[in-house]
Amino acid sequence: MDAMVVTGGCRLKGRVRASGAKNAALPIMAASILAEGPMRLKNVPDLMDIRTMARLLGQLGVRVEREESSGDLLLESRSERRSVAPYSIMRTMRAGICVLGPLVARRGFAEVSLPGGCAIGDRPVDLHLKGLRALGARLDIKHGYIVARCRRLRGTEMYLGGPFGSTVTGTANVLMAAVLAKGQTVIESAACEPEVQDLARLLVKMGADIQGIGSPRLVVEGVDGLGGAEHTIIPDRIEAGTLLMAGAATGGDVVVEGARWNDLFALVHVLRDAGAVVEHFDDTIRVRARGTLRSVDVTTLPFPGFPTDLQAQAMAMLTKADGISVITEKIYPDRFMHVAELGRMGARIRKEGNAAVVHGTRRLSGAPVMASDLRASAALVIAGLMAEGRTTISRIYHLDRGYERIERKLAALGATIRRVKEK
Ligand code: EPZ
Repeated sequence: MDAMVVTGGCRLKGRVRASGAKNAALPIMAASILAEGPMRLKNVPDLMDIRTMARLLGQLGVRVEREESSGDLLLESRSERRSVAPYSIMRTMRAGICVLGPLVARRGFAEVSLPGGCAIGDRPVDLHLKGLRALGARLDIKHGYIVARCRRLRGTEMYLGGPFGSTVTGTANVLMAAVLAKGQTVIESAACEPEVQDLARLLVKMGADIQGIGSPRLVVEGVDGLGGAEHTIIPDRIEAGTLLMAGAATGGDVVVEGARWNDLFALVHVLRDAGAVVEHFDDTIRVRARGTLRSVDVTTLPFPGFPTDLQAQAMAMLTKADGISVITEKIYPDRFMHVAELGRMGARIRKEGNAAVVHGTRRLSGAPVMASDLRASAALVIAGLMAEGRTTISRIYHLDRGYERIERKLAALGATIRRVKEK
């Protein structure tokens, strides 16, 4: 297993480019099940989760290939005989659930393993099932699998909000089913995240009729079939946000290309409240910070609120801010695995229910720490860059699930960071 060794104390400076968005690419890849022709996807990041989704689609009769010359991902549904998404794959990547809607809509049958436990807390799929049932699918849970059957789905009105707001992959799943349903479907309380918008745009290119993209009310007129399409995946706002916070946390001057201002508005405000200077030109954002940041309160919310996928990184950044920051998690109330590890580096953080109170401290010191999940790993990298001495982060396979060669990007900004084999 690999570990990451970070030596802190340097101010990041320079320009990097964010890769394509993992969380846009995963459901978009699943949409290939719906297509009657080939799909070409550009700007798909080269990540473990993408390879896992390719493997899952392979099991479902979709040919997935990375074209060497262009780096594009080519997908084509070749056989509709196998519609089983096995536990062996689903337990490693929850986004595999996104094949459920397309399988039901296109093939009328699916057996998809329930995804299983997750370090960031409870992650039910009841809203996915609610939406698909509303469209007329018969769903049973048997031996850990969702077994789905239907004839042609039928359009209907549904409310997809849950106790923590809208659901991102739930909206994706139901949308991918509704596009082939007979008649009109109205999805109220749909997720508005840029990744859902990107999926909807791809579906429109394939021939779907979707109104209200980017709003919480999606209106879909079902069509009889969908063709292939070519699509460029949006840049990864979470990776871009992570790099921007790494820049601010180290008192640096960092320019991130592929950082869309409208996708990162909530973060921009947090950075500015913390005292950083943030500017943008087209899809490029520059952050500059000097000296100690100020404390800021951060509350995670569905888009356009502050993303839960940047909460851990924001906490790391604020560990050395002047004053007390309260970080409230409204999407995943238990997503605080990073608190204890940051504490091992000298951070003063007290967890209180779904909030963490961060007392800014003047110094962090490098320590051996352990990654618990994808974004917690990114937070530990940021903390390592801010700390005195050396931090060794083990179990970085979590990091590799969502960040494409992050050590190279950070090294290009002047960070002292390297990947080593763990003994
Ligand atoms: C997506 O997960 C992302 N994953 C997550 O990113 C992200 O943290 C999350 O959205 C929230 O933004 C992908 O896009 C592949 P949700 P998803 O359904 O869709 C509750 C990362 O680090 N809920 O929007 O699974 C749920 O428990 C990952 O890249 C229900 O109650 O999240 C949570 O409290 C981690 N019932 C809230 O809704 C349901 O049926 C939002 O979850 C579904 C969800």
